[in-house]
Amino acid sequence: MNYEELVKKYTALGIPTPTKKMIKTEEQIEGIRQAGIINTKVLDYVEANIHAGMSTEDIDALVSKKTKELGGICAPLNYEGFPKSVCTSINDAVCHGIPDSHTILKNGDIINVDCTTIYQGYYADASRMFMIGKVDPIAKRLVEVSKECLDLAVKSLKPFSRLRDIGYVIEQHAKANGFSVVHEIGGHGVGLEFHEDPFIYHYGKKNTGMVLFPGMVFTIEPMINEGSRQVYLDASNNWTIYTDDGGWSSQFEYTVLITETGVQILAH
Ligand code: MF3
Ligand code: CO
Ligand code: CO
Repeated sequence: MNYEELVKKYTALGIPTPTKKMIKTEEQIEGIRQAGIINTKVLDYVEANIHAGMSTEDIDALVSKKTKELGGICAPLNYEGFPKSVCTSINDAVCHGIPDSHTILKNGDIINVDCTTIYQGYYADASRMFMIGKVDPIAKRLVEVSKECLDLAVKSLKPFSRLRDIGYVIEQHAKANGFSVVHEIGGHGVGLEFHEDPFIYHYGKKNTGMVLFPGMVFTIEPMINEGSRQVYLDASNNWTIYTDDGGWSSQFEYTVLITETGVQILAH
């Protein structure tokens, strides 16, 4: 069935469908795949070099240098005024931490490094957690569970499954482990722009939401909190999100593609 026939079929069933723009062409998918390969190499490079005693600005320099070396562009830099090339979010920072020279990684920190690469106009977006030295057992468990949430969500994906199943799987696993899911920030379509539709919920009811067609490319990036899911925006920089209760927060992010037969991870 082509796009129009599929829309007709699902509309008749009362199920929301993706817009045509959400379905990437083969050529676009190849471009995003190349951006993803670079983005993964950049995160691998961070993983090999991150250590206690370095500043988050040092991480920014690593990301900027490696991305350029591989022919890419760091999407965060100047994105809606964001001042750096990567997001670095430590401990109770949920996301959108801004690298700086006086924030020094120390033993026991957990940090999310979120890289987005533009290559020949195509975007890929992924993030990983790193544990610095010896980490509190609860923080370590949180990091593991947040990764499991993402991997379980990816495993559950199938062509023509429903968008809210993603969040259902994530929320179930987080809650089963005594953790909570941030609601305010979600995954997103990605590829031709940094943030595209649809919004990808990390919580919710199964068997609801849009049907996922082959050719859709989006991120899944659940933010899992140790305590309350409530968060606030740092008013001093208007970017960084923190947990309300000061508890740990952890996040991994992939860029994924829905295929005719399953799912491919384009950036991790
Ligand atoms: N990479 C983040 C995401 O996963 C977005 C960061 S926007 C920035 O969607 F401007 F802070 F870089
Ligand atoms: Co993202
Ligand atoms: Co990201």
